[in-house]
Amino acid sequence: MTRREHKEFRERIRELIGNRYVRKMREFPQHGTTSTLDHSIRVARMSFWLSKRLPVRFRTQSLVRGAMLHDFYLYDWHKPEEAQPLHGFRHPVTALGNARKHFKLNKVEENVILSHMWPLTLSRVPRCREAVLVCVADKICSLRETTAGIFRAIGSDNKKS
Ligand SMILES: [Fe+2]
Ligand SMILES: [Fe+2]
Repeated sequence: MTRREHKEFRERIRELIGNRYVRKMREFPQHGTTSTLDHSIRVARMSFWLSKRLPVRFRTQSLVRGAMLHDFYLYDWHKPEEAQPLHGFRHPVTALGNARKHFKLNKVEENVILSHMWPLTLSRVPRCREAVLVCVADKICSLRETTAGIFRAIGSDNKKS
């Protein structure tokens, strides 16, 4: 990301990062050692970065806000006593409910949040280019975070033996 893009990105996430419920995502692990807040910032940053390099126009503020709130479900999905059943399918609906409670969302942001797990959630399809981009960025970031965790685990096993 260029210096200018970095500045623009920081400005675009400022309001959300300042919200205590958004910051609460820091308490919940996502993939490997990544918190849900770090994951959400990564997905937002990746979506923003890609949007600046693709030859199409995006509604950048909605793209970034939707990405920041796409996993705003506020529980630890690794703990059966906290997580809702079928987390993978249902958490976009929970995230959207929480996001609506705390922020005024537009249709693009709602679709970004609701469809980010597609094609797992068959009927909740990305219906705008912003939702498609976040859906892709989420998969790239999730894969990176998961594989980094696996490599870290292999590394620590090697040290032990
Ligand atoms: Fe998710
Ligand atoms: Fe995610």
